[in-house]
Amino acid sequence: MPAKDNIYLVGLMGAGKTTVGRQLAKRLGLRFVDSDEEIETRTGVRIPTIFEIEGEAGFRKREAQVLAALTQEDGVVLATGGGVVLDPGNRANLAGNGTVIYLCAQPLQLWERTRHSRNRPLLQVADPLARLQELFLQRDPLYREIADIVVESDGGSSHQLVKKLEREVRSRCAA
Ligand code: S3P
Repeated sequence: MPAKDNIYLVGLMGAGKTTVGRQLAKRLGLRFVDSDEEIETRTGVRIPTIFEIEGEAGFRKREAQVLAALTQEDGVVLATGGGVVLDPGNRANLAGNGTVIYLCAQPLQLWERTRHSRNRPLLQVADPLARLQELFLQRDPLYREIADIVVESDGGSSHQLVKKLEREVRSRCAA
């Protein structure tokens, strides 16, 4: 493990970062935080409203500020937003302050999991599956660049995945 006792979950929309993060935090006795939730708390509005008013660029600025603050904390499991890795400064903050776990899932699976959500402005397009395929191609190498652990998050119960991650994280602590 790096100097700090933190776990950062990265991956595309629908990969299960929040669900897995919450359960993993409980098992490890760490505090769970979600960067999108933190942005919503600070601004008092939902993510789609920020995109509507400030565009994606405005959202990314807020995301970088919140991430810089959250990566200063210790003892957290942090679920990040899917686009956090686009910014090199964010990648450095994540890689330097905790163990980064990439929850990797294929675009079709991600589309199945997100198709009924209205909460993700980037997927409110005519062909969300094509958008997820583009995002996968662009971001998969960025997630891998900073990941200490890469796990498949394609189907299966989150419970099994969390148990596997708990073992992995604990064995790194012991090493
Ligand atoms: C985004 C992912 C979302 C949220 C915003 C932008 C992205 O978070 O941060 O809608 O660029 O992939 P989730 O990955 O938690 O859905």
